[in-house]
Amino acid sequence: MIAPIISIRNMHKWYSGVHALRGVSLDINPNEALGLIGDNGAGKSTLINILSGAQTADEGEIEIDGALVNIRNPRDAMDLGIETIYQYNSMVPTMSIARNMFIGREPLKVSLFGIGIMDQQKMRDDSVKAIADVNLHLRSPDALVGELSGGQRQGVAIARAMHFRSRLMILDEPTNHLSVKETAKVIGFVQSLKNQNVTSIFISHNMHHVFECCDRVVAMARGKIVLDKRIEDTSIEEVHEVL
Ligand SMILES: Nc1ncnc2c1ncn2[C@@H]1O[C@H](COP(=O)(O)OP(=O)(O)OP(=O)(O)O)[C@@H](O)[C@H]1O
Ligand SMILES: [Mg+2]
Repeated sequence: MIAPIISIRNMHKWYSGVHALRGVSLDINPNEALGLIGDNGAGKSTLINILSGAQTADEGEIEIDGALVNIRNPRDAMDLGIETIYQYNSMVPTMSIARNMFIGREPLKVSLFGIGIMDQQKMRDDSVKAIADVNLHLRSPDALVGELSGGQRQGVAIARAMHFRSRLMILDEPTNHLSVKETAKVIGFVQSLKNQNVTSIFISHNMHHVFECCDRVVAMARGKIVLDKRIEDTSIEEVHEVL
């Protein structure tokens, strides 16, 4: 038996009248790529927003490596090694790739006057390396993120998460509005995370994508988990039936 890296226990969330999570419990194993599937409003984003600190649960607990944690905000999640990539990811289009790579975690160097200033060269060098590490080919770290395609932006976000050695990478519909080719690239990223000891949760409406890059599929419906199986033990048809 491998110990899970994250355990979610009996999670509940209410939005005024809506009971969005109705007692969700889930263990996520190290190096696993977990596909999270479910119809609109099933509670997928709510669940992962609680893990990423964007929202807080009304009931339930989260353990990381067997220890109870309190994720109050995105900073807490980042400090625990949880990184989230959204459909429209959290990058600033008017800033360069290098600046975006280090938002909130800028390396400093001491200036002539003894003041800590951003180490621009280090940010450029490190981002070139981080981007090459995920097999993304971009011309220059100085290019503005706003000039990149959707797939390239997701690539930079993934490179950033890899650079800061995230342990859990959450991807909430990262392929929405991407071309077929860009989607294939993002799927490739998810597949490569495993080789780099990163555990991932991949949310998608596309069952084929989940079956292509995940080890396990968890289906949610109306705030509950209704199926949890290894990919080799289930089929697209079976998952469809429970939704
Ligand atoms: N900020 C919010 N305020 C009020 N209700 C919300 C909020 N966020 C989500 N909900 C409700 O909670 C339920 C679960 O929503 P959630 O966004 O988690 O679903 P989802 O599975 O991610 O759906 P989708 O596939 O459409 O992204 C829905 O009924 C939704 O309307
Ligand atoms: Mg959602």
